[in-house]
This record gives sequence, structure tokens and C-alpha cells, in this order.
Amino acid sequence: MGATLMTTMAASGASFLAGVGAKPGSTKKSSFGKTPDGESVDLYKLTNKNGAEAAITTYGGSVVSLKVPDRSGKLGDVVLGFDSVDGYVNNTSYIGALIGRYGNRIGHAEFKLDGKTYTLAKNNGENTLHGGTKGFNKAVWAAKEIPAKDGQALELTYLSKDGEEGFPGNLHVRVIYTLTDSNALRIEYFATTDKDTVLNLTNHSYFNLAGPGSGDILGHILMIEADKFTPVDSGLIPTGELRGVAGTPFDFRTPTEIGARVNSDDEQIKLGGGYDHNFVLSRKPGDPISLAARVREPKTGRAMEVWTTEPGVQFYTGNFLDGSLHGKDGVSYTKRSAFCLETQHFPDSPNQPKFPSTELKPGERYHTTTIYKFSTAK
Ligand code: BGC
Repeated sequence: MGATLMTTMAASGASFLAGVGAKPGSTKKSSFGKTPDGESVDLYKLTNKNGAEAAITTYGGSVVSLKVPDRSGKLGDVVLGFDSVDGYVNNTSYIGALIGRYGNRIGHAEFKLDGKTYTLAKNNGENTLHGGTKGFNKAVWAAKEIPAKDGQALELTYLSKDGEEGFPGNLHVRVIYTLTDSNALRIEYFATTDKDTVLNLTNHSYFNLAGPGSGDILGHILMIEADKFTPVDSGLIPTGELRGVAGTPFDFRTPTEIGARVNSDDEQIKLGGGYDHNFVLSRKPGDPISLAARVREPKTGRAMEVWTTEPGVQFYTGNFLDGSLHGKDGVSYTKRSAFCLETQHFPDSPNQPKFPSTELKPGERYHTTTIYKFSTAK
């Protein structure tokens, strides 16, 4: 470990490495440093009965590390993250964070609800991205360990006040992370509001199943359960069309290397600078939760399935990572060194009457579930 990193960790009081090799079936809390405002931030390390680990910080509810076995049984980290809270305060890539109030973009930073126009921050060109200037990724969440039948669970809560980032309604949000004993990370999102509002919660983990710092993710083999995707304009706002994936680089119905078509001259790939698109999941009616995607990394044999109750998933190939962020152990996060599969309602839904609605009304309970399941293949 470099001297600079050690100094940073000491200065912020971080104890990221404390508790290495924690007791199976336990959860440990430690300090992760302080925000620039002096607020204390914690790190919770959940260890399941097999020794797999998920570390989650109260800053942004971010997943800091996720250690799962490779085909030889060796545990390794599969997500990007930082050694202390400072990295989370300073990055604008939403690394590992909970995203709210609205995952992905809202066009022209405004929407109409009940005849009233709500104006939001333009934090991505003309548009709003991931909740605005200070989204849920920059909030310090309250946390407590809670019992779970099938693993270790952490409950995070946050009150987003009426008018925060321009959105209406006092919104009570609760997220439960469970690291199950079958090596899955389950994320359950709950919310209630006291005024009509819009809501689209997700988690922005960046995965590299061979480990951060192992190179690009172009050799990962991906399947997405989607017959259609939502094409975008130059600001990455959906045009409203649901386009068939057949015959396009967006056809991942048969497992295909991520890198096979990521540099093709397809117009949509060019607009995204690679993949940065919402896929319309082929959910079976009546199924409470369905398989959205499956990824396999041939060298380590690690595999991940994504299951969700959501209608869409944003597949993003880290096109805007440019090497300027230095994560855990000083690893630099370069273009395409990780991918995201952000389960969600479609981008810009508040302005797209044909998309599934993201409205939440007083008296309704928002509840969605996404599960990242890990296994190994020969
Ligand atoms: C968006 C990208 C964005 C990334 C990080 C993704 O969900 O679709 O365009 O760059 O998040 O902010």
C-alpha cells in the first residue's frame, strides 16, 4: 500500500482493512471517515456463512467492496470502490452508490405532474442525471443491522425533504441490503411520499468479475433478457421508440462478449460512446421477479445473474471512466474497466407517457427488488 493512501486513511480515520477475515455470519461496523461538513460516516462489513463479504458505507449507501469466490474458491473483489469516504465525496461517477430520486436522465431537467411543471438541476448538459446535483449518492444514510433468515442484512434510511433537488413530497426511503448465504446481494427499495411525486431508485455498482485493476471488461460474456431497447438522442434521452434488438449490437439474447460490438459504427453505439442504454426486459407476466441478465468471466470462472422486479436495465460500459479516478489500493479506473447493470424504470419516464409510470402517490408503497447472484462456472 502506498504512503499517500496510508496517510489519507489515517487522516480520515478510515478502517477499511479492519476486520479482514471477519467471522462467518457476522456484521462489523467501523468508521469510514468524515464528510467535508464533519459528519461521521460508517462502513458495515457483512460476512456470510461462506466467508463472502459485502462492505457498504452510509455515504450514499454505496457498495464499497463485494468479495465472492472464483472457480478455485478464492475470494476476490468484483466492484469498483474507494478506501475511504473521501473518494465517494469527490467522484462524479456514482461508484457503487444508491441513486435517487430518479435513476438516469430526465430530459430538459423538467417534468409535469398534475399540471404543474417541476424544474430540476441541469447536471448533465441540458438534462438531470441520477437525481441532480446532490442526489441520494451524496447523502449520509442512517443504518442499522437487521435480522435476515438467509444471511446478513443492513437497513438504510433517508428522508428526502419536500422540494429537495426540485422533486415534490417528503419521501421516506428505506433500502435493505442482504448478503445471502447463497452468495447473492439482494437490494430491496421501499418508499412512501406525502405528495404526488416521481421515483426511480437503483444502485450504481460497477462490476469487473476478474477484479478491479485486472484490465477491461470486454472479454466478459453477457446475456440480457431483452427483445427491445430504448434508443436515445445525442443527450442520451430516449426518443420514445422501443426498438427491436434483432440484427443490432444490442442483441444479447445469446451470450456474447461485451467487446464484440462495442466499437461498431452503429449509430446508437456511437451516441453512447459504447453501451449506455436502457434495455426493455422480457418479463414473464405474473412472475414477481425475473432474470434480467447473466454475465460470465472466463478467466476466473465467476458468474453473476441479475434478477429484478423492474421493467428495465441500463447497461453501461464505463465509457466515461477516463483513468482520473483512483480507487481501492490506488487502482486507476480506466475506460471500460467495469460495467454497470442498473435495474430501473426507463430513463425520462416522467416525460414519456408511453413508458411504464414512475409516479408515486400518498398512500402507495414503492417496493422493488434486485438481486445480484454470484456463482462459478468451469
Ligand atoms: C449513465 C451514464 C453515466 C453513468 C455515470 C449511467 O447510468 O447512463 O451516461 O455516465 O451512469 O454517471
